[in-house]
Amino acid sequence: MSQVLSIQDLHVSFFTRKGEVKAVDGVTFHVDRGEVFGLAGESGCGKSTTAYAILRLIKPPGKIIGGRIVCDGIDVLNLKEEDLRAYRWKKVSMIFQNAMNCLNPVHRVSDQIAEAIMVHESVSKRDAISRAKQLLSLVGIDESRANDYPHQYSGGMRQRAIIAMALALNPVLLIADEPTTALDVVVARQVLEVLWDMKKRFGLSVLFITHDLSTLAEFSNRIAVMYSGMLVEMADTKSLLSNPLHPYTDGLVKSLMSLTRRGEKLWSIPGSPPDLAAEIKGCRFRPRCPIAMERCFSKKPEFIEVGQGHYVACHKVVS
Ligand SMILES: Nc1ncnc2c1ncn2[C@@H]1O[C@H](COP(=O)(O)OP(=O)(O)O)[C@@H](O)[C@H]1O
Ligand SMILES: [Mg+2]
Repeated sequence: MSQVLSIQDLHVSFFTRKGEVKAVDGVTFHVDRGEVFGLAGESGCGKSTTAYAILRLIKPPGKIIGGRIVCDGIDVLNLKEEDLRAYRWKKVSMIFQNAMNCLNPVHRVSDQIAEAIMVHESVSKRDAISRAKQLLSLVGIDESRANDYPHQYSGGMRQRAIIAMALALNPVLLIADEPTTALDVVVARQVLEVLWDMKKRFGLSVLFITHDLSTLAEFSNRIAVMYSGMLVEMADTKSLLSNPLHPYTDGLVKSLMSLTRRGEKLWSIPGSPPDLAAEIKGCRFRPRCPIAMERCFSKKPEFIEVGQGHYVACHKVVS
């Protein structure tokens, strides 16, 4: 199967007053054409930074320190400034975290989508509007609502409009960064189904970012779990959920399984995520790890394939 995105040993740091914050510290994964690849992990572990790096949107004090990103044959980190705009919309498009609050309040929704099309393609306004309306209808927004202003939409409708906009230029890869986090459970579900439908219809590949593993259980082909700027585990969804090998993944899966019907969490991973600016010797998860052993204090575990396509970075597993 061919790869639509390949990321090798990506390093992104923020240079702050506290020192170098290694937000992405040696991340390697790929997304196959046509798959939904889930990137999961607690808030602050580097998920959005990874996505921004793929789009070359890291701004100072952040910097891409090293690594290689290839998207649909394009060597992204060596792309010229003038080629970035086309790359960003036509190859990869992104639904940003909190995007639904970023629609322009003074423009009609159909106009905003049409505008995005006209900036990148030489089409008439009329054709662009008609395409915008088609896209809105695909995501379940009736033609009669296409000319509304964003504030006339519900949260779920705004997020569906954002999906329509992200698909306007037929990208090969869609990055969706916490696309349902701001929505209540029922609406989130509807938005996920729209995304799933669009994925099938357009033959999209999706990099789906979330802090909530349960969102990925149903829709993703594979999952990578990120912790403190690194990947700790990666596998096909079924293996990851039924046989989590890393103690952090194990904790995430346990807390997922212990969700009550009312949505309360009964189990959570003790401790809090590490300060990324602090140097931790050995394994970064070690301060929270229930099964840490001596080696974990001194040696950083490598990310190793332990089963077919199942990777893990843990001394306990690979010793
Ligand atoms: N603009 C910034 N300036 C300084 N540090 C930042 C900035 N953006 C992100 N970071 C650092 O990078 C880490 C990862 O952030 P982010 O990628 O947004 O995490 P996630 O999306 O997983 O919640 C944060 O914990 C923070 O320390
Ligand atoms: Mg984020």
